[in-house]
Amino acid sequence: MATAAAAALCATVHALAAACMGRLLSRRLPTAAAATAGRQTRSMGSAQSFHINTPDNTVETYFDFTEENYKLVNKILSKYPANYKQSGIIPLLDLAQRQHGGWLPVAAMDKVASIVEAAPSRVYEVASFYTMFNRTKVGKYFIQLCGTTPCMICGSEDIKKTIENHLGIKNGETTEDGMFTLLEVECLGACANAPMIQMNDDYYECLTPKTTIELLDACKRGEPPTMGKWGSLPMNGQVSCEGPLGKTSLWTVPDPPKVDPDRFKDGSVDPASVKVHMSY
Ligand code: FES
Repeated sequence: MATAAAAALCATVHALAAACMGRLLSRRLPTAAAATAGRQTRSMGSAQSFHINTPDNTVETYFDFTEENYKLVNKILSKYPANYKQSGIIPLLDLAQRQHGGWLPVAAMDKVASIVEAAPSRVYEVASFYTMFNRTKVGKYFIQLCGTTPCMICGSEDIKKTIENHLGIKNGETTEDGMFTLLEVECLGACANAPMIQMNDDYYECLTPKTTIELLDACKRGEPPTMGKWGSLPMNGQVSCEGPLGKTSLWTVPDPPKVDPDRFKDGSVDPASVKVHMSY
């Protein structure tokens, strides 16, 4: 009897262990389908925590900075002491992503690692932590739609449906012509002008379904509207983030903060030119 009970117990333990191991393996070795499904979740954005080889994204894929961008690489690295090159990982990854059409193949991360003399895994850690880095291909116009509470209350669900219907894609997908990718994300910090999207670097705010379609059609024509004076574009004619009654406070202009006089010679910051100063 004792032997039979021990055998039964043993079988149960084995079954439990097998079930646990199966669960662990399924977590550690996701299938391509699971990876694709992961892109549908908005909390993780496009930053899946693992790499899956695709024909255009292996360690053998060629990537190097252009001659022009090597000048920017040197400019970026000159901001840090020679023994702290790794401080340049984020701006260098950003530069690589811009050069590579908005996403980072693993070969680009390896190139950055060799430039800053870091182990590739240190660069992978950064690229997989920050959702500003796309490690799979995105469209020419990468739309990040804010779905957090203020935007949701002001109609982001309608904006999402409008984009999905107009482009024929769902959240996390790219149009067949490679023009648009849609990804729902968390608050982008422009809640005062909700609902809004970020398209590549720029913010389009105070959207309605009508202005969203106008915006998408302008992009299809290759004519995205230029940013407003404040580096974003409320699509309802507002200048910045005043409410529907217009400006109701801050009637006097406060003293501006002090800025580096060498960079902003007239003593004021022009938000529209900030990208130049950021080496974009
Ligand atoms: S909630 Fe949408 S920008 Fe903050």
